[in-house]
Amino acid sequence: MKKVRVATLIEKKQNKEKITSLTAYDYTFAYLMDEAGIDVILVGDSCGNVISGYDTTIPVTIDEIIYHTKSVKRGVKRAMIVADMPFMSYQCNFEDGIYNAGRLMKEGGAEAVKLEGGELVLPIVERLSKLGIPVLGHLGLTPQSVFSFSGYGVRGKKMSEAERIYNDAIALEKAGAFGIVLEKIPAELGKKISEKINIPTIGIGAGPFCDGQILVSYDMLGLYDKIKPKFVKRYREFGNELRNAVKEYCQEVKDRIYPSEEESY
Ligand code: KIV
Repeated sequence: MKKVRVATLIEKKQNKEKITSLTAYDYTFAYLMDEAGIDVILVGDSCGNVISGYDTTIPVTIDEIIYHTKSVKRGVKRAMIVADMPFMSYQCNFEDGIYNAGRLMKEGGAEAVKLEGGELVLPIVERLSKLGIPVLGHLGLTPQSVFSFSGYGVRGKKMSEAERIYNDAIALEKAGAFGIVLEKIPAELGKKISEKINIPTIGIGAGPFCDGQILVSYDMLGLYDKIKPKFVKRYREFGNELRNAVKEYCQEVKDRIYPSEEESY
């Protein structure tokens, strides 16, 4: 078992081997995903949606991400752990951003951080990278900007926005990012960026040509089943499984079937 590091991901891109990534927020999920061979576990601020039940990722705090990262860390041996920098943990000022990224590593045990945005975040990406904190960029649909975007629509459909995303990707590589998440952009744009830059692109709704893929685990497992964006493939329907298991348990308790002699001392 070889630990996944930044160099592993770069090598994978060079060897045209796909990178696999999923989100996790707790020990058990992280442990099982690691055993299954996932390359990168993202402790995403999507915990705001799927764990805390918020409508957006905006309310998520740095302390919440640290808490989840610590739990994930205890379950993982091989995968690389990337922690998300939540809304306003890096945008207010430079020093706070560096301090918060440091906390994700020192307290959470993250091996890299992810932050959203292009041109505006270049200075902090550059500084963090130089300080030894690997940074994963995030372009396209950046959910922390949901109110500016007026929703979760596809980004980069217009030529001007596509050009901006493309140029931002090049600039993020220059600033020292080791990879870039590309979210909800046309497949052709994902392809163009992936071919242009030397660092890996990890797509989510960005088509099949990215160097790797990521999904929110609760989406692909069918646990967060209220909505299903087009780009999500549900590999299981665990939401239904869970409902049925709970119904069965309740019925058996009411019918005095559980616990039986077998489960008693
Ligand atoms: O928070 C998250 O889960 C993410 C992924 C959607 C990439 O940023």
